[in-house]
Amino acid sequence: MRVVLAGATGAIGRPLTRRLRAAGHAVVGLTRHADGVRWLREVGAEGIVADVLDRDALLRALAGVRADAVIHEGTALRKTPTRHRDLYPTDRLRTRGTANLLAAARGVGARRFVTQSFLYVYGFVDHGERALTEDEPFSPGGGDRFDVHAAAMQANERHVLDAAGLDGVALRYGFFYGPESGTYGLLDLAARRRMPAPRRGTMMSAVHVDDAAAATVAALEQGRAGHAYNVADDHPLSWTEYLDAFAEAAGAPRPWRVPNAAFLVSPYLGALMTRASIRLVTAKAKRELDWAPAYPSARDGLAAVAQTWRGERH
Ligand SMILES: NC(=O)c1ccc[n+]([C@@H]2O[C@H](COP(=O)([O-])OP(=O)(O)OC[C@H]3O[C@@H](n4cnc5c(N)ncnc54)[C@H](OP(=O)(O)O)[C@@H]3O)[C@@H](O)[C@H]2O)c1
Repeated sequence: MRVVLAGATGAIGRPLTRRLRAAGHAVVGLTRHADGVRWLREVGAEGIVADVLDRDALLRALAGVRADAVIHEGTALRKTPTRHRDLYPTDRLRTRGTANLLAAARGVGARRFVTQSFLYVYGFVDHGERALTEDEPFSPGGGDRFDVHAAAMQANERHVLDAAGLDGVALRYGFFYGPESGTYGLLDLAARRRMPAPRRGTMMSAVHVDDAAAATVAALEQGRAGHAYNVADDHPLSWTEYLDAFAEAAGAPRPWRVPNAAFLVSPYLGALMTRASIRLVTAKAKRELDWAPAYPSARDGLAAVAQTWRGERH
């Protein structure tokens, strides 16, 4: 297939571009920067400069392009979001950005559209001991500042899965980690013993970006139109265990414990690590996409990432 990929230069976009190329697909990557175009050419893709939030410019940039599918992996998380306002640009990419990319998909003649979603589409709330399948209704939310982010994720999915004339698929990824700057930054913090962990972190599902990329290629090729898939590893961890795994991978002592309430100084990330609790069931992706994570637990995956992190440090 010929695929227009928004977010081609990001944490998931880079491994995804490589995997799409390896699977024989042609990639037209969107980026706002000349550097991004250069990287895309180096890996055998085409690069087009466009801002997906500028609808007219996006449609102009894609004039004359024909493609079979569009994949939306655009986020704006280069800086780790700690406050709610750090998420607003990403919320916009999931609302206005998705609408613009759907218009672009129609313009290039695409039949399929795959979009990035996230485990918190189920709501930034405590789902208790239950592991969630794709049939789980979205939570109405806690009536707090998280609701706007969940609403943006839900709107993104609704627009894509209900899009007329397009086969839409949504991928509800777990938390990403991988050989990328965000994960390396946390390994650095752990190694310098500057990473605290909440005493009783809530549960979450994670996924190595390479595994997420593999699931995305499978969803492009065989995802069922109008369906969402949970994409995560097999062993949900508490945030406390997850941060311990970073320290272990970095060869550092266990992070010191901090009362949950102290994490609330970070109103987005800290609150998320101590209040929302979600574990994903991935049986549907395994069954229908014929996919399984190469790293069944973040403990194994982080150990592998730490090897490349060490290589880059020395
Ligand atoms: N599920 C998850 O846990 C999840 C999901 C996403 C990201 N993250 C994390 O967030 C951190 C940063 O992610 P990242 O490195 O992918 O960076 P990012 O800043 O979130 O950028 C992601 C991609 O979106 C593109 N993009 C952003 N705004 C755009 C716009 N207006 N128009 C067109 N393209 C746009 C960027 O392209 P250009 O900059 O080239 O224009 C880039 O390719 C990483 O640690 C990652 O693991 C986690």
